[in-house]
Amino acid sequence: MHELHLLLIFHLIGATIWVGGHIILSLVILPQVWKEKSVEKLFSFESKYERIGLPALLVMVITGIRMSYIYIIKISNWFNFENPIERVVSLKLICLATIVLFALSAQFYVLPRLKTDNTKLPLMTFHIIAVTTISILMLILGSFVRYGGI
Ligand code: HEM
Repeated sequence: MHELHLLLIFHLIGATIWVGGHIILSLVILPQVWKEKSVEKLFSFESKYERIGLPALLVMVITGIRMSYIYIIKISNWFNFENPIERVVSLKLICLATIVLFALSAQFYVLPRLKTDNTKLPLMTFHIIAVTTISILMLILGSFVRYGGI
């Protein structure tokens, strides 16, 4: 088995956990939280999910960067937007940075306030929907590589 194929399998397991978890959060947990006006369910899902979600994201970043090196897309070429595969990698990295910003904002601003203030629920919902949408976008971007990039 080629190294790229093995990396891709780990990358896809990471994507399954990450994207799957966020879709469940958006379509199953969030509607319950809104209906019952209980943020407890959200905290309980977050605390259990982050133990598997964050390592999955880390696996995707490591395998993704190694795969882009196999495609000869190195740090020095990132964000040049000159070659079809490099454009995919650069867009994925921008998406990743946006997800990190949303995660930091949720962790250090929104979630601590949501504990005592239910009016922060729409803001938290926005964070969750944004991260879910960006993650699906990263999955779609990834699928372009086998067709030669964008
Ligand atoms: C939420 C994060 C991510 C998701 C959901 C995701 C998802 C995917 C998916 C579904 C593929 C499809 C592969 C195929 O066509 O069979 C893929 C490929 C790829 N991803 Fe990601 N990815 C993520 C993060 C990253 C990051 C951070 C990088 C690197 C900077 C990266 C680099 C790549 C590369 C180079 C491929 C092409 C592999 C190939 O087809 O040979 N990905 N990704």
